[in-house]
Amino acid sequence: MELLDQIKENARKLNRRIVLPEAFDERMLKAADILVREKIARIYLLGDPEKILSDASALGLRSLSGATIINPLNHANKEKYADLMVELRKHKGMNKDAALQLIEDPLYLGTLMIKNGDADGEVAGAANATGDVLRPAFQYVKTMPGISVVSGAFIMILKDKEFGENGMLIFADCAVHPDPNENELAEIAVATAKTTRAIAGFEPRLAMLSFSTMGSASHDLVDKVTNATRIAREMDPDLQIDGELQADAAIIKAIGEKKAPGSKIAGNANVLIFPSLDAGNIAYKLVQRLAHAEAIGPILQGMAAPINDLSRGCSVSDIVNLVAITANQAGGM
Ligand code: ACO
Repeated sequence: MELLDQIKENARKLNRRIVLPEAFDERMLKAADILVREKIARIYLLGDPEKILSDASALGLRSLSGATIINPLNHANKEKYADLMVELRKHKGMNKDAALQLIEDPLYLGTLMIKNGDADGEVAGAANATGDVLRPAFQYVKTMPGISVVSGAFIMILKDKEFGENGMLIFADCAVHPDPNENELAEIAVATAKTTRAIAGFEPRLAMLSFSTMGSASHDLVDKVTNATRIAREMDPDLQIDGELQADAAIIKAIGEKKAPGSKIAGNANVLIFPSLDAGNIAYKLVQRLAHAEAIGPILQGMAAPINDLSRGCSVSDIVNLVAITANQAGGM
């Protein structure tokens, strides 16, 4: 079975509650219709119920009666969520009036539903910028225990099955945190290992990438990667991880053996952790375009509950796939 089919099948078994806050967007309604019909998740649509139903009818969508529609302007939990917002953000000056206003924004409502235990995950970003999707998530859902930084992983599926895990490699961080320090880089590695097991379904072997392999160059940026490798091992002593490694030493056996003799990861890595967002974002786009690889993601990781951000150019099937991935993440938490 293809990876995405497996992910959907697993989502069906998990039967998680996923919020779609952008119900005004036609693609979201079409995706919700498929998700309900194929029983991939229980769907919560946030928006004006009358408009959602009339849009659905105009689009000929027949399965949306199986979704729960919540009006952000008027719903039973408005006061309760506003109180929770004040409790969580008093120290940042949040008061009840501001909270009652903010909770009418579906992107805030979605995160408060998750925080209050009324939903398991969220997918948004078809019609909102990354920062607008992530800010409420950072503020109210926050990070998982032991992790302070959210990051984004891609599953790269290569045509050449020689590399990684039968042609599959996980790249991170490619999407969120521009300039991680050594502790944050270690957290990104630990979170990516978790994503690899939960979504890609294989045991991670992590290479911490650099422009140096095992001391071939000395620079503060190299020290950052070696220190992050040590910290990641302390965070999870069972982690199969090594660094610092150059990309070729990480993925090509002969080069790994030559540049990092004795390393169990060199030449054998299936997860690549990049030292900065510059490196990770550039690398995934180059591999996607030059090697014609399929890039699934970004899968946001490190959050206390899964919230994933779509590209604004996303298709209906991108939304369906990301909801299935989000449900799998919720199942692994
Ligand atoms: N993990 C966890 N919390 C974070 C993170 C993070 N990575 N970044 C910020 N926060 C928290 C802050 O601590 C702060 O919390 P507080 O309000 O409780 O103090 C809150 O989020 C807001 O912080 P800001 O610094 O104001 O964050 P801002 O909203 O300005 O930026 C953002 C966050 C949007 C993620 C920014 O880091 C960013 O733009 N990153 C790059 C995203 C991007 O453009 N990616 C590449 C394209 S994606 C692609 O190609 C697939």
